Amino acid sequence: MKHPIFALFFALVIINNAIPHGLSKRSTEFYPCSLDGPQTLPLNVTMSPDPMVSGQDTTFIISGTAKTDTTIKASVAIYIYTNTSSVGSYEDRLCNVNKSCPMKDAAFKFPYTIKPESLPADYYIAAWIQTKIYQYCAKTHQLSSK
Ligand SMILES: *[C@@H]1O[C@H](CO)[C@@H](O)[C@H](O)[C@H]1NC(C)=O
Ligand SMILES: *[C@@H]1O[C@H](CO)[C@@H](O)[C@H](O)[C@H]1NC(C)=O
Ligand SMILES: *[C@@H]1O[C@H](CO)[C@@H](O)[C@H](O)[C@H]1NC(C)=O
Repeated sequence: MKHPIFALFFALVIINNAIPHGLSKRSTEFYPCSLDGPQTLPLNVTMSPDPMVSGQDTTFIISGTAKTDTTIKASVAIYIYTNTSSVGSYEDRLCNVNKSCPMKDAAFKFPYTIKPESLPADYYIAAWIQTKIYQYCAKTHQLSSK
C-alpha cells in the first residue's frame, strides 16, 4: 500500500459506518411547531427506520387528537427541508392514508410511508395535517444524515 495512513483512515470509516446507528442513538424527537394561534395543534410522531435512509421507505406513525372539523378534504404531509430550502414534500389526502376518515373528535393514529430521495447533510423533518380550520404539526430539530 502506497499510503498506509490513508488505508487506516478508510478502514476506520468503514468500521464506523458498519456499526448500526440505532444501537447507541436515541430516537428522533418531534417537537410542537412554533406557529402562533389556537388553530395549531400538536402531533406525536415516530419513524422507522430512525434515522431515515435515502432511497428507502420510512414509515411515520402519526397520532394526535382530532378536532371535529377534520374532513375528507384534509391532507397529510411530511416535509424535509434545510435552513435554506425545501428538499422534499410528500403529501396525500388524509383519507387515502387513513381509510376510516373523516376523523371525529377523538384520538387518531395512523402510519404514513414515504421514500425520501436524497437526504442532504443536515435537515429537518416536519409532519403536518391540514384541515379546514386546524393544522396539526410537529417537527424535529436539525438532523444529520452523516
Ligand atoms: C403524545 O404522547 C404523550 C405521551 O404518550 C401524550 O401524553 C400526549 O397527550 C400525546 N399528544 C398528542 C397530541 O396526542
Ligand atoms: C441551521 O440553523 C440552525 C439554527 O440557527 C443552526 O444551529 C445550524 O447550524 C444551521 N445549519 C446549517 C447547516 O447552516
Ligand atoms: C384512522 O382514523 C380513525 C378515526 O380517527 C382512528 O380510529 C384510527 O385509529 C385511524 N388509523 C387507521 C390506521 O385507520
